[in-house]
Amino acid sequence: MSEELKRVAAESALSELQPGMRLGLGTGSTARHFVDLLGQKVAEGFDCICVPTSEATARQAEGLGIPLSDLETLVQLDVTVDGADELDTDLNLIKGGGGALLREKIVAAASDRMIVIADGGKLVDTLGRYPLPIEVNRFGLGATRRALEAVLASHGAQGGLELRQSGEGDPFVTDGGHLILDAFFGRISQPEALSRDLLDIAGVVQHGLFLHLCDRAYVATPDGVRTLTK
Ligand code: 5RP
Repeated sequence: MSEELKRVAAESALSELQPGMRLGLGTGSTARHFVDLLGQKVAEGFDCICVPTSEATARQAEGLGIPLSDLETLVQLDVTVDGADELDTDLNLIKGGGGALLREKIVAAASDRMIVIADGGKLVDTLGRYPLPIEVNRFGLGATRRALEAVLASHGAQGGLELRQSGEGDPFVTDGGHLILDAFFGRISQPEALSRDLLDIAGVVQHGLFLHLCDRAYVATPDGVRTLTK
């Protein structure tokens, strides 16, 4: 069911595409549907140039014959289409469940518009039920963790921090060679202040709060697609 809804959300985002666009391609199972659909359009002659937000998406897009570039060459994109782990009705997001948050944020920030595609289960009143991914440098992990615990406590986190593991039981390593600590807040009542406090910690590379970056979301529910616009 949820896979079908992800596909429906991805299909809705096709309406955003114009020939010749420079596109950012998101990461995750919902974005994967969008890349599949885009691949079909490219095979039919649709013209675009794309920047992937992860090695996994790059491999998928390459396999489908989607033309790829990077932000050294293009510097600015028209639209990025990506999934989210949580979104609220102000279009603030938690992302990074797939570990691609750093590249996803760089690509979204370099895009004129960011479009989110999601199934209805991702829409929440208040962000924070989904653990917030925080990408950290490997160096100084213990010290970074201690500084993060203080920030969690000052923002009323209901749980702690967990070093993300890969399937093999080793620490999960991002495409950029960093680690991820997942922070269990329960409820994030002051996302802007939390964002600043996290980025003030020297060992923090980036976090998964995407604030004021998303312009529109297509949220697929069993009753139809809800379009949320900034
Ligand atoms: C990857 C992400 C994904 O967009 C997010 O995890 C949603 O994934 P899915 O569509 O598989 O639920 O942020 O870093």
